[in-house]
Amino acid sequence: MAKVLVQHVCSDCGTSSPRWLGKCPGCGAFGTLVEELHATDDAARRGSVARVPTPLGDVSASEGERISTGIPELDRVLGGGIVPASLVLVGGEPGVGKSTLLLSALGSVSRAGRKTLLVTGEESAAQVALRAARLGGAETVGILAETDLGVVCATLEAERPDICVVDSVQTLHASEIGSAPGSVAQVREAAGRLLRVAKEAGVATILVGHVTKDGAVAGPRVLEHLVDCVLQFEGDRYHEHRILRATKNRFGSTNELGVFEMTGAGLVGVPDPSELFGSTHPGEVGAAVGCVLEGTRPLLLEIQALVSPTDLAMPRRVGTGVDPKRLAMIVAVLGRHAGLALGTADVFVNVAGGVRIEEPGADVAIALAIASASKGAPVREGAAAFGEIGLTGRLRAASQSDRRLEECAKLGIVTVVAPTGTTQRGRLRVAGSDTLRDAVRAGLERQAA
Ligand SMILES: Nc1ncnc2c1ncn2[C@@H]1O[C@H](COP(=O)(O)OP(=O)(O)OP(=O)(O)O)[C@@H](O)[C@H]1O
Ligand SMILES: [Mg+2]
Repeated sequence: MAKVLVQHVCSDCGTSSPRWLGKCPGCGAFGTLVEELHATDDAARRGSVARVPTPLGDVSASEGERISTGIPELDRVLGGGIVPASLVLVGGEPGVGKSTLLLSALGSVSRAGRKTLLVTGEESAAQVALRAARLGGAETVGILAETDLGVVCATLEAERPDICVVDSVQTLHASEIGSAPGSVAQVREAAGRLLRVAKEAGVATILVGHVTKDGAVAGPRVLEHLVDCVLQFEGDRYHEHRILRATKNRFGSTNELGVFEMTGAGLVGVPDPSELFGSTHPGEVGAAVGCVLEGTRPLLLEIQALVSPTDLAMPRRVGTGVDPKRLAMIVAVLGRHAGLALGTADVFVNVAGGVRIEEPGADVAIALAIASASKGAPVREGAAAFGEIGLTGRLRAASQSDRRLEECAKLGIVTVVAPTGTTQRGRLRVAGSDTLRDAVRAGLERQAA
């Protein structure tokens, strides 16, 4: 039997140590050492036979047909359906609705005449049946309440379903590995073996993974490298809207976004989120509509800002759904180049619907909301904004402005504040601005005084 060595390897720099250490001797990071099992070199070398590589041109590959999950928003995030024999990792905070979404997906796939399997390690079969009864239409989904990795893999090989969901990968355990379920070694073993089965038996496998407090999928980051696609399910448990986004996709674009609403009958896709998130009350101070691009989809979002005087030596800049560094930069550029003194004020910014903006094209809209709150003047009625702000106060063109304008026109926007060079479209008036100062002037209603 191969001798197995336990090594502790830093997940940041790769330094290995035979003992676990709190601080990595290589890079000095704390708490990054994770245990790994290594076969000794001799054992690894024995029994390996060299093979002849095949020229790539001789490899037969057909673009397999994607399996539609029957949930358009989920299909969109996956890049048009799930690819057969691929491995997808779905992460999300507890209670966000991972099990609900995947059970609905399995239900509709099985109704389309395909074979599906749900491996549940977290809930009993009866609990899942209760949820299935609530959601409806999942009667033909096969269920396996099992946590033994060997049994799960053997079942997959024997049954060969088209799609299998493992809820969750942290509950699986391989008996030959000594550590507890959910430990780094167990999770990696489970993912590795499921990957092999997925490719060999042609089972599209969806793994549910828990998310740690700091937002990473629990277990080793190596899980994210192993799988073909990583989906993150975000959203407030106390808020009915959930956002699904791809952070990695080997078969499609990342940054695609799906919007869902949690209802008693499960998660319902929101096909037109702009309508939901992209409206402000006319005349309201401190609210602006931004047109951001999430993947291939333009989205209108209401951005709210509050500017309130403070006595703090370091005024606060708090953003929900906005990158804090980006927010600090926008506040600084507003102060330096648009004559908006915010040095003695706290600035709060919030994005509607729990959406997180990652794109710089939302800069102008964020700036407009802050300027509106600071000056006490509402943003023009029926106006939306997009564009990136440079450190010099000049606006930079945002990508795919045509699609953004199209979305604005569709939702009845009258004026668009955008960088100069953005072409007019239909009845939409484009207020092209060179600088942030111009954009603020064009975007806000005339002030009383
Ligand atoms: N009867 C119901 N009506 C409306 N919403 C419900 C109902 N039952 C459950 N929910 C919603 O479903 C959510 C739980 O969904 P689900 O179990 O799919 O989450 P999960 O992400 O799988 O959580 P976990 O990580 O704990 O497994 C709850 O937060 C709740 O909002
Ligand atoms: Mg669950």
